[in-house]
Amino acid sequence: MAYPAKIRMFEAGARDGLQSIKATIPLEVKVGLIDRLTAAGLQAIEAGAFVSPKWVPQMADSAEVLKRIDRAPGVYYPVLTPNMKGYEAALEAGVGADGMGEIGIFGAASESFSQKNINAGIDESLARFEPVAKAATDAGIRVRGYVSCVLGCPYEGEITPAAVAGVARRLEAMGCYEISLGDTIGTGTPGKTRAMLDAVRDELPGTKLGLHFHDTWGQALANLLTGLDYGIDTIDSSAAGLGGCPYAPGAAGNVASEDVLYLLYCLGIETVVDIAKLAEAGRYVMEHLGRTPSSKAAQAIAASV
Ligand code: HMG
Ligand code: MG
Repeated sequence: MAYPAKIRMFEAGARDGLQSIKATIPLEVKVGLIDRLTAAGLQAIEAGAFVSPKWVPQMADSAEVLKRIDRAPGVYYPVLTPNMKGYEAALEAGVGADGMGEIGIFGAASESFSQKNINAGIDESLARFEPVAKAATDAGIRVRGYVSCVLGCPYEGEITPAAVAGVARRLEAMGCYEISLGDTIGTGTPGKTRAMLDAVRDELPGTKLGLHFHDTWGQALANLLTGLDYGIDTIDSSAAGLGGCPYAPGAAGNVASEDVLYLLYCLGIETVVDIAKLAEAGRYVMEHLGRTPSSKAAQAIAASV
């Protein structure tokens, strides 16, 4: 199959990118990052998570972040909502008020990861998501479903493609407009990616899918290329390659947005994102964290100016 002509980049840097960082990141840095990502032209920018502050302290100021960012027309600023409490807090923070609301419900193909991450097994987690998805779709807020551990689990090891397809199907049945398939711990390979996508495509031939790959073993770009072959046209990534789940020990950051964008550019695939401005957003947040971007493309850009 030919690669898609256009790709939607789904930027996870301000949520997945920051959620595991222990030191409290000032509100203005989170807002500064999101505003720079908007300026770079990204059309979907995860802006926070309405989760328990005891579980993920870094996301505790998501409502404030949403109030302070400069929204651009036509851009989605999705947030994670694991249950009705999170959904109601998101509504209170104005999600959906501008007709551009999007929330994420996040399940897993691994029973143990689901327990560790959201304190519920797979069936119980899906039962919690159901009223959230219904309330949101009734309110005109679109719902994205995530499946974690699609290419391996930090607690169980191998996960079967059939388990991934089963959870994806149940999320799709709740009305999710897209299912994001997460290699949470970055242990995927192109062969495993193919087996997983074959199973998901058998189960959900027409469903919109996204690829959400972490880059622990350096295979994320190769795995993404495999996914593009299936016609998948949404890629989740994080500026500067930040990221990781606090409940996925050993996982590295998401694939870097700058590296993805450079790959797409080289393949002649259209995006609407400006790589120099994207690299500037990554540099901005990394400077505040006292780190250098793990993105090779960002490093090459920095070396060339
Ligand atoms: P729980 O402890 O089972 O919740 O946590 P509970 O319903 O029993 O309530 C206990 C307390 O939490 C109560 O407060 C609730 O009010 C409060 P208390 O009475 O003790 O003061 N609570 C909440 N507070 C704020 N917001 C809420 C909320 N819900 C309950 N929404 C819960 C269950 C799901 C809340 C918890 O496990 C949690 O917050 N987990 C989130 C973990 C997380 O955010 N992980 C990272 C995101 S997933 C990810 O990164 C993977 C992804 O990137 C894809 C990939 O890479 O694979 C998406
Ligand atoms: Mg992730």
